[in-house]
Amino acid sequence: MTIHIGAKPGDIAETVLMPGDPYRAKWAAENFLQDAKLVNDVRGMLGFTGTWNGHRVTIQGSGMGMPSLSIYVNELITQYDAKTLIRIGSCGGMQPHVGIRDVIIAMTATTITSPSSGIFREMNYAPCADWSLLRAAVAAAEAMGTTTHVGGIYSSDVFYAERPDLDEQMTRHGILGVEMEAAELYTLAARHKRRALAVLTVSDHLQTGEALSAADREGSFGDMVEIALEAAFADV
Ligand code: HPA
Repeated sequence: MTIHIGAKPGDIAETVLMPGDPYRAKWAAENFLQDAKLVNDVRGMLGFTGTWNGHRVTIQGSGMGMPSLSIYVNELITQYDAKTLIRIGSCGGMQPHVGIRDVIIAMTATTITSPSSGIFREMNYAPCADWSLLRAAVAAAEAMGTTTHVGGIYSSDVFYAERPDLDEQMTRHGILGVEMEAAELYTLAARHKRRALAVLTVSDHLQTGEALSAADREGSFGDMVEIALEAAFADV
């Protein structure tokens, strides 16, 4: 048990999928894992461990935003020895060629501030995905026929942004989409020598104003879970 995770030692698998929403963790565990058992419900941030194709997997909610994700990822790595951590979540599209429901596999995650900014100070650290996971996720997405974009994303501290100039600069510099967690996940994985990746579905679009309905979100969420699982065990 840690401060924020009630799981017993050994209850957490080496591979952890992390949706922001704890109910998405429940949905993914029920639909993709065999023998899934609830291993955490502290603060309602549900986590489940089961197996996928014989491999042990934990699906643990991260909450929204980098401060929340940072708590769970720190404890998963330092207390439970998680080795592969894959965020599965939604993002806002930031390029005209990126459509609603498309999948974005984040090669890098730009941020303005994160829980790790205090360490970097004057440095602009470039959080990046684990190459083996990135390569395997792209292969899995292509095999599934999912429309996929690979490149940089922006991890924002706010959903309701008051700086349209920042969005404009991100778009101008090729950023594919905006979400709120990946930069801290990549930074913590690098610090602790673990593998990390973010696989995201475009749920809304900053330029067109389009947004997925709740029912559509569920369908496209399934593709991400499958891509993440295939990537996690591609080289096993
Ligand atoms: N902004 C930030 N995070 C998000 C968005 C967004 O538009 N969509 C999904 N996650």
